Amino acid sequence: MQQKQFLWGGAVAAHQFEGGWDQGGKGPNVVDVMTAGAHGVPRQITQDIESDQFYPNHTAIDFYHHYKSDIQLLAELGLKCFRTSIAWSRIYPNGDELVPNEAGLRFYDDMFDELIKHGIEPVITLSHFEIPLHLAREYGGFKNRKLVDFFERFAITCFERYQHKVKYWMTFNEINNQMDTSNPIFFWTNSGVKVEPGEDPQQVLYQVAHYELLASAKAVIAGKKINPDFHIGCMISHVPIYPYSCNPHDIMAAEIAMRQRFFFPDIHVRGYYPAYALKEFARRGYKLDITAEDLTILKQGKVDYVGFSYYMSTVVKADVNNDNDSNVVNGALPNSVDNPYIQKSDWGWAIDPEGLRYALNRLYERYQLPLFIVENGFGAIDEIDSKHQVHDQSRISYLNAHIKAMLVAMAEDGVDVIGYTAWGIIDVVSFTTGEMKKRYGVIYVDRDNQGNGSMKRYKKDSFDWYQNVIATDGKSV
Ligand code: BG6
Repeated sequence: MQQKQFLWGGAVAAHQFEGGWDQGGKGPNVVDVMTAGAHGVPRQITQDIESDQFYPNHTAIDFYHHYKSDIQLLAELGLKCFRTSIAWSRIYPNGDELVPNEAGLRFYDDMFDELIKHGIEPVITLSHFEIPLHLAREYGGFKNRKLVDFFERFAITCFERYQHKVKYWMTFNEINNQMDTSNPIFFWTNSGVKVEPGEDPQQVLYQVAHYELLASAKAVIAGKKINPDFHIGCMISHVPIYPYSCNPHDIMAAEIAMRQRFFFPDIHVRGYYPAYALKEFARRGYKLDITAEDLTILKQGKVDYVGFSYYMSTVVKADVNNDNDSNVVNGALPNSVDNPYIQKSDWGWAIDPEGLRYALNRLYERYQLPLFIVENGFGAIDEIDSKHQVHDQSRISYLNAHIKAMLVAMAEDGVDVIGYTAWGIIDVVSFTTGEMKKRYGVIYVDRDNQGNGSMKRYKKDSFDWYQNVIATDGKSV
């Protein structure tokens, strides 16, 4: 994989920043029926769009109408690349049409032209939680094999149309979120899936995973035919799981738990099912719809690089006592406990820059492919003063420490990292909570949780800081 310069960038996703949810012929997607929540208050998935509910993604930060001035700001920041996604339902409003929506295609043409005009390389995720609602409602999302064909058609349409504008692609964003079957929003946003009464969530997960991995492999194969110079990666959420102690039982508990992180990339990268997964299917008696032809396609559609998000680490303890242990984390990961060495953000996310170096080393050893950190950032409450200044020192500290850890992994450990895109480079709607007040950007957007505000953009202190990091190619950290 030949590449001239390190890809310093910023990342967002269509549904979290575009708005214009029903404009230019766009159909509703799975996020368009998600209400706002808060830390500890889950977002609701409503049956339809209900008039008495607030849906924060419908307008988001209205990039749809601000894209020229926003890209101008990103250019001023000095970005080498910009990661965003294509809203599937802008291109195929229902998802099962044969002919794409020309207005949707044109919107991305204009956006990519604008980026390229400023020397910013687009890095594009095909599906970042944006499955057309119709495919979820009428077909059951990725429970249905037909979705493989619909996704392949969507991917081919994008590859053909943008083959001279976009080189870096990813198939599914954080495809492994759904390993956590306890929170319905992960299945819903990854796959358009709801688990029905009587279904075994684990069995549903593995069937859905297979169809999605197959869809991804088919997209890779098709993309390489359209333009052999494409770099097509997977995208996983990578939260390293540490053993609580050197007790061998803790070490083994962490090793087994890490399969939750590695299951998807193992197949994306190697093109076959890992032994531990086959054993698990057999142990649980799962008869999955996986054909011999599918297995050949998985082998042929391996990814070129591993894109991943890194925000935090977590810890497991083998003999956790859920009733008596004071540091048990009531999250999705069984037996997970607090890390006494690490601080947390206001949303309970452990702040662990060293964990990024650790993650880079583990992923590189395991896959021996270029790595791309396509999300890393600090969600925090920002105060804007009367001069429209935001002194976001905690964000600068977080980003600085993580970039430093990445540079050490590259310089001392020899990890091949092709780029780094800071998440939510401009404030966007939070994915897990639907809030605006959980801000990540170096650019502030005047909009609040209820949808009030002027939508004006202001540079935070972190804007100048990141501009300098890019200008010095990381030497300033
Ligand atoms: C990742 C997603 O999970 O983390 C993004 O790919 C998301 O879409 C980001 O926004 C941060 O999460 P949150 O919930 O703080 O917005």
